[in-house]
Amino acid sequence: MTSIRELSKHEDGVTTLQGWVANKRTSKTLVFIVLRDGSGFAQCVVDLNTIGEDNFEKAKRLTQESSVTITGKVVKDERQIGGYEVQVTDFEIHQIAEEYPISNKEHGVDFLINNRHLWLRSKKQWAIMRIRNRLKYVIHTFFQERGFIQTDAPILTGNACEGTTELFETEFYKKDQAAFLSQSGQLYGEAAAFAHGKIYTFGPCFRAEKSVTPRHLSEFWMIEPEMAYYNIEMNMDLIEEFIKYIINDVHKTCETELQVLERDSVLFDNINKPFPRMTYDDAVSILKGEKEVDGRNALALMEGDLAQVKTDLAAKKEELAEKEGILAKGGIKKGKRNYLQSQVDKLKGEIKNLEEMERNIPKWIESARNFKRGEDLGAADERVLTRLYKTPIMVYKWPAAIKAFYMKRYEDDPDYVKGVDVLAPEGFGEVVGGAEREDDFDTLHKAIVHHELPMKEFEWYLDLRRYGSVPHAGFGLGFERTVMWLSGAKHIRETIPFPRYYGRLFP
Ligand code: 4AD
Ligand code: MG
Repeated sequence: MTSIRELSKHEDGVTTLQGWVANKRTSKTLVFIVLRDGSGFAQCVVDLNTIGEDNFEKAKRLTQESSVTITGKVVKDERQIGGYEVQVTDFEIHQIAEEYPISNKEHGVDFLINNRHLWLRSKKQWAIMRIRNRLKYVIHTFFQERGFIQTDAPILTGNACEGTTELFETEFYKKDQAAFLSQSGQLYGEAAAFAHGKIYTFGPCFRAEKSVTPRHLSEFWMIEPEMAYYNIEMNMDLIEEFIKYIINDVHKTCETELQVLERDSVLFDNINKPFPRMTYDDAVSILKGEKEVDGRNALALMEGDLAQVKTDLAAKKEELAEKEGILAKGGIKKGKRNYLQSQVDKLKGEIKNLEEMERNIPKWIESARNFKRGEDLGAADERVLTRLYKTPIMVYKWPAAIKAFYMKRYEDDPDYVKGVDVLAPEGFGEVVGGAEREDDFDTLHKAIVHHELPMKEFEWYLDLRRYGSVPHAGFGLGFERTVMWLSGAKHIRETIPFPRYYGRLFP
């Protein structure tokens, strides 16, 4: 018994695999089965001449997702994914699957998400979940190697960390005791940092935003390190080291997965360069096209993108018309027709995406040009800004008015706080939010009053400033955002096994 990932160890030997039929093709004397076993995909060939008539007929009856145990000879074949092929000598069918709802055709997203429990088996989803798994592992490695203690913040909590508008309220406690699902473990992480020095939490967070965007979930996971005696600069240094570390690791260990996802290598080729750091004020100037970066203007770049989209769109439409023309004429063989049809479907998808870009880019340019200094950056603004870069950027020194109550103000410029957002490049946007925390009792007390937060719930948090307060800082990395960024997934719902967002509680 072996797994597909380990096939190379059995080259020219006979071994047994257990899995499911991902795909099947039949010719007169051969049945080609693409077997998947969770560890990978491998082509298994059933030959009438070796297996005999009865078995061959049995193999022909296999349907997509039927479960089988296959024994055969492992032969090197460079053309195969994974580099090996199995020449079947024996097989056992466990179940012939009913007609499987997900085929190789294009399916609508709603259909796929309603079938998430099955969609997880598809190759791309498989690759994304494996990247998620590796990322989780390497995140723990990074912090554990550096002496950080992993600690757990409660999920049920009486206080709001990131503002009160996005809270999930529960009714479990007494009437006068509101209980919420946690938006962030940070405040508890701060308490733990004063006990252990350097800590991190890695837990679920909940935000009750009643809107659906490609980058928001209502239930997501966050990694939140918190370090005593760290200031904002040390915080930024750690973030940069951390992001470089995890991305380099995924690049090294998830080669097959990245290939399956057709993730281009621009990110990996550039990740070891320094991450540009800029203040919020500079970022706004760049966004509005008032300040250039290495001779490049953000708005001009977007105009260029728009022109390119229009050119590509015209070319794709022409190609589509040509292929549809051939199909309409008829008189072509089934194989060729199927191939053309799949190309037509693919082109239609690409055209839809390009048309969406053609509609969106002018809106983004408009939003960037009219951006009001002092406001928060929206998704569109982050897109325009990060389009200029091939590495993440760190935007720090934010207006206090738009950031959380716990961020420390600049001593010499108290309208600004020592917060930092890390924006992933090539249009992706925010993956990290962090800050140096307010460590002075009176200033923090005032901020809680100013934000109209219930003082009673924050008394314990204020204790941290009563008993041995020190400068400290931390950040939160959105786990699904990171999986999405690295895998190149178009929507955050593909980065968690069973996504939860407004309107989606099934399956
Ligand atoms: O910027 P945020 O709100 O920061 C905090 O919660 C701080 N308490 C973190 C800290 O300093 N310890 O959230 C941090 C990150 C965001 O940058 C984003 O990547 C992710 O969490 N995030 C979400 N991911 C998916 N869906 C959502 N609704 C998210 N909201 C935030
Ligand atoms: Mg944020």
